[in-house]
Amino acid sequence: MNAPSAQTVDVRPAHPEGLVVAAPLNMSGNLPPKAPHVFDEACRSAIARVLAEHSPNDLFGAHQFKGSERDRAAGAAFVARRLPVAPEADRVVVANGTQSLLVMLLAGLVGQGGTLAIEALTYPTIGRLAETLGIGLAAVPIDAEGVIPDAFEGVCRSRRPAALYVMPSLHNPTTAIMGPGRRAEVAEICRRYGVAIIEDDIYSLLPQNLPPPLSTYAPEISWYVLGTAKAMVAALKVAYVVAPSAMAAADLFWPGGRETFWMCAPINAAVASILIEEGAVGRILDAVRAETRERQRRVAERLAGADLRTMPECLHVWLTLPEDRSRTDFVAAVAARGVTISPSDIYALSDAPRPNAVRFGTGAPRDRASFERGLEAIAHAYETGE
Ligand SMILES: Cc1ncc(COP(=O)(O)O)c(C=O)c1O
Repeated sequence: MNAPSAQTVDVRPAHPEGLVVAAPLNMSGNLPPKAPHVFDEACRSAIARVLAEHSPNDLFGAHQFKGSERDRAAGAAFVARRLPVAPEADRVVVANGTQSLLVMLLAGLVGQGGTLAIEALTYPTIGRLAETLGIGLAAVPIDAEGVIPDAFEGVCRSRRPAALYVMPSLHNPTTAIMGPGRRAEVAEICRRYGVAIIEDDIYSLLPQNLPPPLSTYAPEISWYVLGTAKAMVAALKVAYVVAPSAMAAADLFWPGGRETFWMCAPINAAVASILIEEGAVGRILDAVRAETRERQRRVAERLAGADLRTMPECLHVWLTLPEDRSRTDFVAAVAARGVTISPSDIYALSDAPRPNAVRFGTGAPRDRASFERGLEAIAHAYETGE
């Protein structure tokens, strides 16, 4: 691989030893674009309010278990951005991000030796979590609407999964969206075969016309997970799950589960609650959505004619390459220009076929100019093979 060229890499300040470290521009990650003109003031004022309203010693003095009452009520209001009605707050659990919720859900609903059904291409971290927890994976073929019902039913019969981990809205990585009919069919199969639904709806807050969550079709077996990381800011580390019942929430999280690692730092949960209560979340989502649309407009313009799957409010782009182009060479050509993107292979956690495609994120470059530079590297490699 060629060394990254000087004009396409970020050059960080001098290393302590005097070394200058050149870091590639990260477009393999999938973060929301920053919107400091809206976020900074909202966040400063929320932090000030948290400190004014709480004694810091009270706030940090003890765990808040599933979240304080106020935080769970705010979580119920947050998930109501997607659910038709706000759930009762005692079905809501606040955690320090989606991944922590997934660890708890996989351990509690599937467990060591059990089987988890996944989409044939999926969020790669699920593979690492399943391996750590001793959980087997059963991949379900997907199409343009995600999970294919007949294939899923076959997997339910042959592999008896305890749960399905699924992203019905802007699937990672393919951007597929399940239509309402497909959601109803998949929910019905889960009900018939006793398969719990773990719905990760993390990409759903930027688009405005999505079908209701899969969980609304079978709430009694669904764990609906909505994190803040992909629509607001990546490192607030606040995510909410709606359990099928208050009792199920208590069994799986607290006091049933005795772990505390997944609990949200009280200040983060409290800041998120104020952003939700004051309506700042809506303004932040609007700003992130506007920047995402602008970046997607540039993608559509610069890669016109390429086989792209995405939408204006999606953080990532799924680019299928012509059959005679190697995705590995393509990723290497883009890397040689100082930009990282991901081949389909990292999303295939089984021996399912790997499409000749790559995924890149639009939001991670810290500003419009860096994004343009990354897009140019991708488009150049696409056009020239170099
Ligand atoms: C589908 C999906 N879920 C969850 C996450 C991470 O969420 P969190 O940072 O809240 O753990 C990601 C991040 O890439 C993701 O793609």
